[in-house]
Amino acid sequence: MAMPKVLVLKPLPEEAKRIIRERCELIEPQANPVSREKLLEGIWEVEGLLTNDVRIDSELLNAASKLRIVSNQSVGYDNFDLGAMRERGVIGTHTPFVLDDTVADLVFALMLAAARRVPELDAQVKQGKWGEPGCGGEAHYGMDVHHATIGIVGMGRIGEAVARRASLGFGMNVLYSGRSRKPVAEQAFGAQFRTLEQLLEQADFVVVLAPFTPETANMIRAEHFGRMKPSAVFINASRGQLVDEEALEAALRNRQIFAAGLDVYQREPVKAGHPLLSLPNVVTLPHIGSATAKTRYEMAMTAANNLVGGLLNDRPIHIVPELRHLRGGGLE
Ligand code: DGY
Repeated sequence: MAMPKVLVLKPLPEEAKRIIRERCELIEPQANPVSREKLLEGIWEVEGLLTNDVRIDSELLNAASKLRIVSNQSVGYDNFDLGAMRERGVIGTHTPFVLDDTVADLVFALMLAAARRVPELDAQVKQGKWGEPGCGGEAHYGMDVHHATIGIVGMGRIGEAVARRASLGFGMNVLYSGRSRKPVAEQAFGAQFRTLEQLLEQADFVVVLAPFTPETANMIRAEHFGRMKPSAVFINASRGQLVDEEALEAALRNRQIFAAGLDVYQREPVKAGHPLLSLPNVVTLPHIGSATAKTRYEMAMTAANNLVGGLLNDRPIHIVPELRHLRGGGLE
């Protein structure tokens, strides 16, 4: 019997390719990224797709009549039009768990860097300014992270990993907001549930970790920055679309809040002239929350197993919750 054809749009380690080649015909484009036009032209013969940024919508599904599974090499799956996938019976998978601690580490890197002004002072030292009046003095004082209050907006698995570090490592007081109470985080880390408004008013560090959905789009706007403390540090390691960037820029420029640490933007890659990049109190990164060699390897292996298991139905796979019923279940 012919093996199912699968299109892989992410670079994979050999071991992950081997998993796929054992049971499928692996197609890799000669040039990556593939234009949308080329993708729509060639996808008709493909039964499985591995990506993390291609928009899976009616247009693509119309062109991909054989498609049965999209395996996202990421935990987020905001590129899935879940309604359209549900309608066509196309399952979608993702890579939860393996990146939780890695992303939580990065959240702390951003918190520490923004609060203690690490990039700003690093640049001064490298420019030979150490010893000049002001360098490292009162004008450059930062904010303490230890024993401060952290407010986690969206207490999922990554939120819990952040709460663990905050509570057990830094002695922080943990607040969180979200759709539901999290008894495990409350018990283990003393996390206290707040409304979003209360959290914004009480937290020294506001960390956005909610997924991007129609409900969370643009959830942090001018009125929300208006509620934060002037000493607050704002961190976004989730998706840029959750935040009104103009409002964030105004809040930082007017010193309505102290600083921000950003791993994500509304449009990525962010352009050099983006107003947020000109601010000294912004610490920024190119969406690298999960980007360590070990974690990216594990994500690739999980995505390869999900892809093959989705087609062959021979192993447990991580179907996104909204589409699990299509397969009558699946791993969490
Ligand atoms: C994820 O896994 O969702 C990370 O943000 C990378 O896209």
